[in-house]
Amino acid sequence: MGWKTLDQMELEGKRVLTRVDLNVPIKDEKISDDTRIKKIIPTLSHIIKRGGLPILVAHLGRPNGKRNPHLSFAKIFADIEKLIGLPLIFAADCIGTAAELAVKSQKTGGVVLLENTRFHAGEEKNSISFAKSLAKLADIYCNDAFSCAHRAHASTEAIAHLLPNCSGKLMEQELLSLESALTKPERPLTAIVGGSKVSTKLDLLNNLIQKVNTLILGGGMANTFLAAKGFSIGASLAEHKMKNNACMILDTAQKAGCKILLPSDVVVAKQLNSDVENFVVPVTDCPSKLMILDIGPKTLENAKGILVNSKTVIWNGPLGAFEIKPFDQATNILANFVSNLSYNEKLISVAGGGDTLAALSNAEASDGFSYLSTAGGAFLEWMEGKKLPGIAALE
Ligand code: 3PG
Ligand code: MG
Repeated sequence: MGWKTLDQMELEGKRVLTRVDLNVPIKDEKISDDTRIKKIIPTLSHIIKRGGLPILVAHLGRPNGKRNPHLSFAKIFADIEKLIGLPLIFAADCIGTAAELAVKSQKTGGVVLLENTRFHAGEEKNSISFAKSLAKLADIYCNDAFSCAHRAHASTEAIAHLLPNCSGKLMEQELLSLESALTKPERPLTAIVGGSKVSTKLDLLNNLIQKVNTLILGGGMANTFLAAKGFSIGASLAEHKMKNNACMILDTAQKAGCKILLPSDVVVAKQLNSDVENFVVPVTDCPSKLMILDIGPKTLENAKGILVNSKTVIWNGPLGAFEIKPFDQATNILANFVSNLSYNEKLISVAGGGDTLAALSNAEASDGFSYLSTAGGAFLEWMEGKKLPGIAALE
């Protein structure tokens, strides 16, 4: 890593502006998944133990530069305080007098939470003057929000140039895990990529075929590949406009020595509905009125064969329409297979991005995985091989 970690900073008596990701899902005014909050605890404890004051800076939702009471941290302040188990003071604005007073009044051993940064238009504009107002509150900037590192915003990018900076514990853990999965992996390295569209994962696929030994494709995006190879895919969802791109990926993969596993059999049904009758057919025989909703048992066996011989696996995206049973079956079986292999230390498995964690949790397979990233978009951009502005700014 080309930047400082928390361990390398002198923290005694220092105010540490700590960028965290508190962008948690909220349903009926309650946090429906508190994983992101729990994951910042090691950083907070570390700063406090070494005599520093953590000042939490974060965003919630997309208020577009305007104050919005529904997206105020005041709503979930009590839950955050309970989850982190430390005395917390809330500042009703992230800059100016309210913020300054909160920082001044908090004692060592406590934490300050600043109001949603996205209530100020300067945040998403990466405004230097807004970043300067944030910088005034602290002596050190610590970025612990890997999942926001793909955003060049004032609290993730501009601010890093204004204060001595470092990465937090979660950021460190995310980067080390991702590095061990893709930059310096133990081989054979296999990627499992699913999800509905090729178009949103074009950069991802193009980067992966240069790096992995085998790419297992599932989900709606596999339909586009099957169509590109000339199979008739009936009424399945596919992006016919992307067929040329799919052919190019297959071609480049072959030249790069990357093996691609496409479905050889599939689960088909008339509708995406749990009560509807479903059948397994070879890809050569997809009935014209039915749609492909999952990969079939033979494909699953082939995928298992690849995985037993792999040392590292990186997973993004479900293999079938996992939200509707029984089309979650292949994802569930393969997720548990990977989870068990990792649990028994036969391979390293890293998963992240969008729907992936929901699919693994639906499969009750999350626990065995070596590492689950808290990031959605940032995980994808990192896997695409892009430089993330929030990380570049620390360098
Ligand atoms: C996320 O939830 O992906 C991060 O917190 C970033 O949020 P954003 O997608 O609204 O920028
Ligand atoms: Mg996002």
